This record gives sequence, structure tokens and C-alpha cells, in this order.
Amino acid sequence: MVKVAVIGPGAMGCLFAARIAQTGARVYLIDYRPERIRRLNLSGITVETDAGEIRGNMQVCAQAPIGIDLVIVLTKAFTTPTLRFSPSTAVLTLQNGLGNAEALAGRAGSNRILAGTTTEAATMISEGRVRHTASGTTLVGTWTTCPVEPTVELLNAAGFNTQVTESPGQAIWEKVAINAGINPITALLNLPNGRILDLIETRQLMRDLVVEAAKTASTEGYRFDHSLVEEAEEVCRTTADNISSMLQDIRAGRKTEIEAISGEILRRATQAALPAPRTRTIYQLIRGLEQR
Ligand code: PAF
Repeated sequence: MVKVAVIGPGAMGCLFAARIAQTGARVYLIDYRPERIRRLNLSGITVETDAGEIRGNMQVCAQAPIGIDLVIVLTKAFTTPTLRFSPSTAVLTLQNGLGNAEALAGRAGSNRILAGTTTEAATMISEGRVRHTASGTTLVGTWTTCPVEPTVELLNAAGFNTQVTESPGQAIWEKVAINAGINPITALLNLPNGRILDLIETRQLMRDLVVEAAKTASTEGYRFDHSLVEEAEEVCRTTADNISSMLQDIRAGRKTEIEAISGEILRRATQAALPAPRTRTIYQLIRGLEQR
């Protein structure tokens, strides 16, 4: 039987854990808070979907047991450097932001890392209860040499539309550029995603942020075969009523992922001597907002 650990009991972690458990895999959901572990083991994990409820058969625990085949990391980016892994397990990151795969490679060895992105959407209704709000596409690729096929097969069997990407770094940059354009503006102005397009100034700011991100990506050798600005505008339209993850964090008084998104773009742009003035300002404003 395949054994899978999912790190992070947030909305996405619960969604992936519950759907993978349905394939017959043995699933462990990893949390760092002992009290919540106890409560989640009592309540169980439930995912609401349009087709009904999924009750995930899994164990919630603080550490994955020995002999796990795959670890899926779905925590916030700022926790990545604190994670520990037992030897020889494949580790897949589907987290937001830049630098996660590199940080995990430093801890587990680059030959064990798979990396990618997902546009699945889920929101937490209450502890242990999640709503799967939209199906998306999951892209997974090998960071260096870790075999990708078993993981892609598992995710497809779990009902996630999963494809192999030859360049996980490119897929991650593409998502980061979109997040860098949308998330900070929604968080600063307290707006759902679609409203960014309503005002000429916010729309232009989003475009400029995405362009700065794409230019920074190009200093690392990534080229995009379509306009990321148009893609960001399309995401605003298709997720018009969504409250972005960064705005959700600000509303809940939580730390945001700004460091792994705009902060990391800014650091990489600075290293490449590329000016990124709007990214800098927006980064400073979100850091200020977090500390109010
Ligand atoms: O971070 C988010 O909220 C999402 O990635 C996105 C695409 C901005 C939609 O809300």
C-alpha cells in the first residue's frame, strides 16, 4: 500500500489528503500543533464538493512515520526551512512562492525533490472542514532526478488533473508572477480579485507588477510563450469573487506569503541589477500592513 504524508492541515492540505486517501493509499496529515492534532483525529477531515462530501480516512500526527513513499508539502512558504524528512522519501512541493524547492533540496537532497503548482482551489469552512471551490490543473516535474511518474499517477487517481512539466521552475515562476500582481493589491485595498480590473490605476499597477516579475524570471533564463499580463487579467476574471490568500491572511491577522512572492522577486531582481520599483514599494507596504 502506498504511504503518503501531507504536511499542512490548511484547506489545500486537507483537500489533497482526503482525495488521496480515497485511492486506498495510507495517508498521514502532518500538523505541528498538538491540540489541533487531537481535535482533528476526533472530528476527522471532511471535504465538501458539488458531488457530495468526502470523509478522508487518515491519521493526523506531528511527524510522518518511517517508510513513507511520498511527502506532499502544502504549508505556507515561510515554514519550509523548519521541515524535516526521513531518508529516501520523495518530497513534492506545491506551495506558493519562490525558493521552496531549493530550501527542500537543501534539507532532503535535490534528487528527492519534485516541484510544481496547482490551481485547485479550496477554502476552510471550519477546522477539519473544507470546501473544494474549483477544480484546476496540477503540474509536477522533477527538480533534478527524482522519478515523477508514480506521483503523477497517484494524483490523477485521486481525481486531480495532473500533468508532467519538464520545467517546474518555469511553472512556479508563472504562478508567482500572477500572485505578485494580484495578491498584494487585493490585500492592500481589501478587494476581491475581479475588482482590480475595474479601476484603470489598479489594473495598470497589476500589469506593472507582473512585468517586473516576468523580467526577473528572464534573468534566470525563463521565457514565457504567452503574455503573463493577459493571464493575470484572465485569472482576475475567472476568480472575480475570490478573496485572495493574502487578503485572507491579512483579515485573519496572520503572516502573509509576501516574502516568498514579492520579497523573493525583489531579492532576485536586485541580485541581477534589475530595477523593480513597484515590487519594492508593494513589498514594503504589505510588510507594514502585516505589522500594524
Ligand atoms: O493566492 C491566491 O489567492 C490565488 O493563487 C489566486 C490565483 C490569486 C486566486 O485567488
